[in-house]
Amino acid sequence: MREDHQDAVARVDADRLWRRHAEMAQIGAIPGNGVNRAAFSAEDIRARKLLVSWARERRFEVSQDAIGNIFVRRPGQDATAPPVMSGSHMDSQPKGGRFDGIYGVLAALEALEAIDAAGLKTKRSIELVAWSNEEGGRFAPCTMGSAVYTRARAMDTFLDTTDNDGIVLRSALAETLAALPDAAPRELNAPAAGYIEAHIEQGPLLEMQGRTIGVVSGIQGLRWFNVEVFGKTDHAGTAPLGVRKDAMRAAVDVINALRELTADPHDVVRFTVGRVLVTPNSPNTVPNHVLFSVDIRHPDLATVQRLGEAVEPLAREHARPCDVKVTPTLHDDPCVFDAQVVGAIERAAEDLGASHMRLSSGASHDANYMSRVCPTGMIFVPCEKGVSHNEAENAKPDDLAAGARVLTAALLDLANR
Ligand code: GLV
Ligand code: MN
Ligand code: MN
Repeated sequence: MREDHQDAVARVDADRLWRRHAEMAQIGAIPGNGVNRAAFSAEDIRARKLLVSWARERRFEVSQDAIGNIFVRRPGQDATAPPVMSGSHMDSQPKGGRFDGIYGVLAALEALEAIDAAGLKTKRSIELVAWSNEEGGRFAPCTMGSAVYTRARAMDTFLDTTDNDGIVLRSALAETLAALPDAAPRELNAPAAGYIEAHIEQGPLLEMQGRTIGVVSGIQGLRWFNVEVFGKTDHAGTAPLGVRKDAMRAAVDVINALRELTADPHDVVRFTVGRVLVTPNSPNTVPNHVLFSVDIRHPDLATVQRLGEAVEPLAREHARPCDVKVTPTLHDDPCVFDAQVVGAIERAAEDLGASHMRLSSGASHDANYMSRVCPTGMIFVPCEKGVSHNEAENAKPDDLAAGARVLTAALLDLANR
């Protein structure tokens, strides 16, 4: 590694990185050491302002696009060359942890700080990006900010989405955008020369293998659906079962059929029903409407396609006598990361003497959308027992710092190409 790059890497400040995680974790803190920072909520807005305040201390340029993605730029020598980007998300799951997403944002900020403190000039600008609504826990689907940025999805298709309280995304987004009046407007889909996302692994492999750095080869494919079952309300005490159109009973039958569809002796297929809305949601009324989410994942394109295509016919068959409507909400094919970016990350880990291994990602990430528009890779660091989407999510300060060092070195490599 070049000596000046080594100097920048040495300026990654493990304490500052850890302190910033702790400070961010206070925003939306929930019992059990977790975080509930839903996208476009008051907590999300506080986190955005805190990030921008840190960026402004270094006089980095801050901009924001129409879906609320935030960009923090350290200019390069060639103002016309597309930047190298790095980041992740600041929103969390309702019972989320202190590291999912925010680590990638803070690691990118740490890299920018270290490079700036070393006074390095880079050919390309380096840009931190904090993607909006990666989790999709409040407004589905997930990875919304990167989908819109990369033009994989049009923003109009999301704006009328509501959360469980009936709040419309359009108004929550408007409030979020207004909270950063000084951020320069930024166009969607500006070209990027490369993208690296740092993230906790959210699985147990690194810890089990005793490695610090995961060099990520790609992300498995996923399909999301909303399944709505339409029945008829009736009195729970009087209506004979044989004449009911019980939307809940039909929903359970559909879910059981989907469980059978996705049963896998090798335990590679992932199948989750994580959200259920029952109407009218009263103990003594037969439900007339049930909406539930379906999340199916597999690393192999043919399998995820086959399973996805089976959802609607299966739901029709098993919902009888109720009617059913199946709406696909997300469709991500498996992605394979760019060999040069993966190589740059692996070389950085090697040069820095960090133990590493290649692995593929079970969780989805904004890197999936970025991989469609520019050379992309990801860096994983271990998290305790692989626990994630859980308040108990935990990671070690040293591992977080090691990941930030590898990120700094890899970004410098790409930014000078
Ligand atoms: C993102 O957290 C996902 O659903 O994988
Ligand atoms: Mn995440
Ligand atoms: Mn997540």
